[in-house]
Amino acid sequence: MAFAVYPSLAGRTVIVTGGASGIGAAIVENLARSGSTVAFIDVAVSEGQTLVESVVGKGYPRPVFINCDLLDLDATKAAIERVAVELGPIKGLVNNAANDLRRPMEETGPAEFEWAINVNLRHVYFCTKAVLPYLEASGGGSVVNMSSLAWVKGTLDLQAYSAAKAGIIGLTSSLAHKVGQHNIRVNVITPGAVMTEKQKRLWFDRRSQETVLNAQCIRETVVPDDIARMVLFLLADDSQHITKQNFAVDGGR
Ligand SMILES: NC(=O)c1ccc[n+]([C@@H]2O[C@H](COP(=O)([O-])OP(=O)(O)OC[C@H]3O[C@@H](n4cnc5c(N)ncnc54)[C@H](O)[C@@H]3O)[C@@H](O)[C@H]2O)c1
Repeated sequence: MAFAVYPSLAGRTVIVTGGASGIGAAIVENLARSGSTVAFIDVAVSEGQTLVESVVGKGYPRPVFINCDLLDLDATKAAIERVAVELGPIKGLVNNAANDLRRPMEETGPAEFEWAINVNLRHVYFCTKAVLPYLEASGGGSVVNMSSLAWVKGTLDLQAYSAAKAGIIGLTSSLAHKVGQHNIRVNVITPGAVMTEKQKRLWFDRRSQETVLNAQCIRETVVPDDIARMVLFLLADDSQHITKQNFAVDGGR
């Protein structure tokens, strides 16, 4: 197979949250391969450092790893300001970080619910809020938010996560209206079951992977690079008039 390379992404500064592992790592690598200047925020220090060296080892520009907990909004804002000063102008933001910890409703009190909303939704709002002035100052840009098929399909013990992921759709829709006048686009990607190492370790043994494939129109495993390629398109000028949309990348599940 041969995949697109977007000239508009070369030299463009993009921030990726949760970029150290899984889908986020594929996004970081694909952006670096496109010649983008990538900064990624994550708490997973050894994965983040390993990714940087792996990307450099492949001959792509060195991504900048920022060790920062997105639950700490002041530290997150400072991290974004640092990117703007050191690597700006910022042209893109990928709100990818999340935590899909399963927790039965019976064991979910206000603190657990609040954590799930904060780790899956609140930082999406505040990272975007912090980045918007920089996008506006640079003449426009693109924000890509990551939702999940989980809230559409209904997944056991993911009620709070699903509420957050559904909230991302509403946030995107409302925000796209507000910022379109500044040439800023906001879109959502809804991944299906993407077989990252973590997903295979925790939730998808061979049998449940087969169940997923049987539920898809295209019976091939959806992998992180599939999501990353949609991210690249939505960040690139090729999607210049696409905003306020939600794209499922799920093999037609
Ligand atoms: N993998 C799938 O099947 C799937 C399906 C639907 C949606 N998604 C969505 O796609 C995105 C990526 O999924 P993934 O499977 O790669 O997730 P993952 O859990 O493997 O990776 C998420 C990354 O975010 C980081 N992170 C989590 N909390 C953080 C915090 N407080 N501060 C900083 N970093 C933090 C983690 O360290 C990790 O590197 C998520 O938004 C997820 O909800 C994934």
